[in-house]
Amino acid sequence: MKPMAVLVALALGPVARPVAAAPAVSGPRIEADAAEFSFGRVPNDRAVEHVFKIRNAGTKPLVITRVQTSCGCTAAMMETSVVDPGQTGRLRVSFNPHGQKQVVTRTVTVYSNDAVQPTLALKVTAEVVPAGDEKKAPEPSKRAHAREAKLVFSTACLKCHGPKSSGESGAHLYASACVACHGASGAGVRLGDEVIGPPLRLAGMSVKSGPGLTQTVQAGTGHPAMPGYGKAYGGPLTDAQVASLVDLILKNFAAR
Ligand code: HEC
Ligand code: HEC
Repeated sequence: MKPMAVLVALALGPVARPVAAAPAVSGPRIEADAAEFSFGRVPNDRAVEHVFKIRNAGTKPLVITRVQTSCGCTAAMMETSVVDPGQTGRLRVSFNPHGQKQVVTRTVTVYSNDAVQPTLALKVTAEVVPAGDEKKAPEPSKRAHAREAKLVFSTACLKCHGPKSSGESGAHLYASACVACHGASGAGVRLGDEVIGPPLRLAGMSVKSGPGLTQTVQAGTGHPAMPGYGKAYGGPLTDAQVASLVDLILKNFAAR
């Protein structure tokens, strides 16, 4: 009987959600049909437009007091500034790709008299391409693999992101575990405009001391591609291996 009860509870999960939101329904209540819209590939010579639907799920008229965009290239306008309870208003968002390139994300902020959520942030994204290129197939990725959310030290990943053997240290270890992102001689790696790993040079590094670098390699930076490599932080490297890498960086790379 127990598993059955769990199933019922799971099935009821989504249904139960409005209960939590119930107190907010009195007064005006702003809701958008989507939090984000992607224009896809956009040629750089043509503005594009999208309409978000803004619904008033509350009991009093919703008054849109202001709509703001994060960049002059994006314009947004509510067709009606008051939306009655249960009704939907249209928010027209246009994006002008002129002078932009690559993937851009812009935010549209809607201010209203909804006391629970006085500001609502919506996102639009576009991949701006040279005019005429929008129909071409996207360039094949030069990446070694699809972008991973977070570097994890599973055996499959260690093949390219870890030591080749447990005894490796110094330049050999760097060539196994670090070179893919920080490049030969610590010069850094870029793919197009994107930084895969920054140069390990004193001029640009945020920490420059032996203890600082040791801490960075041991514990990571919080960036998904640069997690803690030290065993104490779930990584594959011993203290001596980390020390050998820091030594290499300081003696051979940092001053270049
Ligand atoms: C065949 C070798 C290989 C394997 C196996 C591998 N990687 Fe990579 N990885 C690379 C190389 C080379 C790069 C450097 C950037 C590039 O070329 O894409 C990289 C880059 C990365 C990045 C940074 C990517 C970015 O876009 O900034 C992450 C994160 C990552 N790998 C995670 C993983 C995870 C997690 C696994 C295991 C599931 C894994 N990798 C397995 C070779 C590999
Ligand atoms: C999958 C890609 C990847 C691999 C492999 C990788 N790093 Fe990094 N590393 C990064 C990225 C990205 C940053 C920048 C992190 C940030 O901005 O928080 C970084 C930052 C660093 C920094 C700090 C630089 C500064 O500005 O202070 C050091 C030091 C460093 N890495 C050393 C290493 C060493 C040593 C190895 C090999 C054990 C290694 N990294 C392996 C991607 C990688």
